[in-house]
Amino acid sequence: MAGIVIVGLQWGDEGKGKITDYFASQADCVVRYQGGNNAGHTIVIGEKKYKLHLIPSGVLQNKKVVIGNGVVVDPAVLLKEIEMLRQHNIEPDLMVSDRANVIMPFHRMLDGAEETLLGSKKVGTTKRGIGPCYSDKIARRGIRMHDLLNEEEFREKMERIMPIKQRILEVYGLEKIDEEKLIEEYLAYGKELGKYIGDTIYFLNSIIDEKEVLFEGAQGTLLDIDYGTYPFVTSSNPVTGGICTGAGISPKKIKRIIGVAKAYVTRVGMGPMPTEEKGKIGDFLAEKGGEIGTTTGRRRRCGWIDLVALKYACMINGVDEIALTKLDVLDGLEEIKVCIAYEYEGKEITNFPSSIKILEKCKPVYDTLPGWDGVKGKKKYDELPLNARKYVEYISDWLKTSIGVISTGPAREDTIKMES
Ligand code: IMP
Repeated sequence: MAGIVIVGLQWGDEGKGKITDYFASQADCVVRYQGGNNAGHTIVIGEKKYKLHLIPSGVLQNKKVVIGNGVVVDPAVLLKEIEMLRQHNIEPDLMVSDRANVIMPFHRMLDGAEETLLGSKKVGTTKRGIGPCYSDKIARRGIRMHDLLNEEEFREKMERIMPIKQRILEVYGLEKIDEEKLIEEYLAYGKELGKYIGDTIYFLNSIIDEKEVLFEGAQGTLLDIDYGTYPFVTSSNPVTGGICTGAGISPKKIKRIIGVAKAYVTRVGMGPMPTEEKGKIGDFLAEKGGEIGTTTGRRRRCGWIDLVALKYACMINGVDEIALTKLDVLDGLEEIKVCIAYEYEGKEITNFPSSIKILEKCKPVYDTLPGWDGVKGKKKYDELPLNARKYVEYISDWLKTSIGVISTGPAREDTIKMES
């Protein structure tokens, strides 16, 4: 037994929640290793739709779920999510890393204030305080989950960091924080969450050789702080490498990497997106695909599949197989475009550029394939329309990566598992 990874290959929202839910049935434990409640996973089971932001989707299969040290945790959000699950008669078997950094109110305030100051040059963050929390972690002034369990230590840490925070809030023109109230509030979270907080690193390493552990990525490769379209990225490493640092697992323990890609592309927030379609096609994909953000309610930008970016993502993550999602959304289109190169200053390039200034100037070079109808709800590969199969095979051949799973609708059952 070993680690299996579900990782996003585009700008997030690839449908990882559904794919994780699908693979979770075989797993013993599901782990988040980065990000925070900027993520939004929608999982449809029967008539019910669940929206999870922090707790790994495997919780819906009653699996052990772990929030790793690389995650940033907003305790109020975590408590709300636990409560929501209880209302659905799910008692989460949850463990939260004592090393995970805590999102504090000033992180959310500063996230919003920085975005406002950046004006039209903003990142378009989820304003959940993710960037400021990771900044404090790296600057060695973060609060970690274990700090909430010990009043003396917590007070000591707060005494150390609050003068800096109050000063920064003042510079930003934000209201001063009532420190005592804040300390009381977070100590109360510690009391409520205490039974879940523990050393997830020892726990995960104690089970990974015997049990199947599923690592659930949030966001996607093109939003990765190192590999994405910097600075229009999130502040963590969603890529598979992030598992080692975000969960304390050796790369040797990871045996299977499933990359999740939508049959088209979407992105929320700002930043370059070479295949974006602003007209009719964009509207068609947004409407049919229900492309409204789970976390912020913002409409996602939509466009054709970008194989240059996907190939780059497959390389960085070492993808063994792709789970291709939302293929049914393309039902009814006469023709479908596939981006196979970028044109930059009169030349064709096939490497994903590191500079967004270059990426912004890249024009997609397309191959056009015939469309189809009737993918929705299909459960077997043979039942797919011929042109849809040709599309799947085109992508697989081009990326030299097999497609292991195809999603043909939002429900758990609308899934094709390919024979290997
Ligand atoms: P942050 O993660 O809130 O700092 O936002 C940084 C960028 O990542 C913004 O463009 C967000 O829209 C984007 N982002 C963050 N989380 C997600 C996600 O789960 N799906 C898609 N985009 C996300």
